[in-house]
Order: sequence, then structure tokens, then C-alpha cells
Amino acid sequence: MDSAAGDERPKVTAPMVRARKGGPPLIMATAYDYPSARIVDEAGIEIILVGDSVANVVHGHATTIKVGLDTMVLHTSAVARAEPRALIVGDMPWLTYHLSTESTIENAGRLIREGGAEAIKLEGGRKRLRMVKALIETEIPVMGHIGLTPQSVHAMGGHRVQGKLVDDARGLIKDAHALDEAGVFALVLEGIPDLVADIVTKEVSCPTIGIGAGSGTDGQVLVFHDILGLAYGKTPKFVRHFADLHAEAVEGMRSFRQAVENGSFPNDDETYHLSEEVAKALAEDK
Ligand code: KIV
Repeated sequence: MDSAAGDERPKVTAPMVRARKGGPPLIMATAYDYPSARIVDEAGIEIILVGDSVANVVHGHATTIKVGLDTMVLHTSAVARAEPRALIVGDMPWLTYHLSTESTIENAGRLIREGGAEAIKLEGGRKRLRMVKALIETEIPVMGHIGLTPQSVHAMGGHRVQGKLVDDARGLIKDAHALDEAGVFALVLEGIPDLVADIVTKEVSCPTIGIGAGSGTDGQVLVFHDILGLAYGKTPKFVRHFADLHAEAVEGMRSFRQAVENGSFPNDDETYHLSEEVAKALAEDK
């Protein structure tokens, strides 16, 4: 499958995603730069999330709260330069949508104007409703994200599965309804029991996209480096590696090293040569 440039299929938009409720599963993957966006798009994945997980998998931080807006704009713009057919969703980093509706709109505007995002995602339910409504009123498509919201790491006391107790599960269901009624075009459900995800998916009108939320959601999302076996450290149980690019990459690097060491790289075809005439003239200079 080609990238967007040679692809006959239409560009994916937020309303198209919204209309997919009850249809074939929605598939989203993260990407953070030009090559990762090309890979995701050429694989036929319909939504690219420029996730703040870039903090973990690219920058090596322990939490996502380490990245700010400038970093997210930079990564989003690198993804947008791939001109993917996939919808580009820019993740709002921590503290960029908490202070006022004005600053929230301005910050989302930077992801869109400077970064090239076509929608934004933000974490939180009823606590963030005022900001979600202000963004939607400004005609910025919003993807919601509830459950194990990594930006709440300190408040949650770690990266913990949410909604396991009855009151917490009820709270999540209320959050989902509030976001749905506010008009989010899709809702990420992360790190929650499958039954809670199933209830939300059945009750809301927008599609749900799960990560660690079981198989009953309207779609699934995983992080690029997790899918391809490029992530380090302990991975959560919902992650499946569909390739082992780390091993392949190390093997490629080892082959490069060995080829230089044994003199087989570069060979004649990989070398620029002078014309005989210029070579002769230089030899005569000596
Ligand atoms: O930043 C991210 O990668 C995310 C996904 C895990 C949904 O928010």
C-alpha cells in the first residue's frame, strides 16, 4: 500500500472517524516523525496519533508529563510532512489545557497551525469538560481519553488500571457520557476492565478506541515502538509486539561495522571516481 501521495483512498477526516461507529474496527497507531508516519500510513492505518508517549519511547523519560508544547509541535510537524492519508491527531501535553479556555484554544491552535494536526486529543473526563466544549465550539475536533490517563500519574499514584471499583467504574461511564454529549469525535479508553469498556462502547454515540480495554471497543490503538519491538523496559500486559525491529536493527548495525572492519565497505560501486583525464592531471602535479 502506498503513502497518501499515491493512494486512491480518501483522506481520513474527524467526521469520517465519528461516522464509523458500529462499522469495521478503527485502527490508530502513534507516530512521531517522518519515517514513522510513512510506515504507519503505508500499512493502511487510518489514524496517526502524535502521542505524548513520545516522552517515553523517543526521549527516554519515565512519564509523559516531561514533554511540553514546543516538543509536540515539532514532532507533529515532522509527521505532517509525510502527508499521510491517515488523520493526524496531535496530543495536548500536560498543563496545556488546564488553565483557561483561552490558553487551551491557543495551544491547540499551535498543534494545528504550526504542527499540521487535523484534530487534537486530551486526557480527562468531566474535569476537562469546559475546555473540551470550548475547543469544539472553536471547530477544533477533539478526541477524548479516559481511564488510565498517563498525565495523571502522580494523582493516580502510578500507572494503574482504572475503574476496577464500582464507584470508579460509574465515574468513568459518567465521564464518557459527558465527553460524548460535548461532541468528541472519538474516545480513547485506556487501562480499564473490558466490561467497563464494553458498557461505555454500548452507551456512547462516538466510537471508542481501546488500549488495554479489551476487544469490545470500536477500535484499537498501540504505540509505534511497542508494535514494532523498539520499546525498552517493562511493557504493560496489553502490549503485543508484532515485529522485533530492535533485533533487526542491531543486526544491521553489526553488519555495517563488520563490513568496514573487513574492508568490504565501501566497494567500487559505492565510490565516486575521477575521470581518467582529471586523475592524470592531478598525478602530473606531483
Ligand atoms: O500518547 C499516547 O501514545 C497515547 C496513547 C497511548 C493513546 O495517548
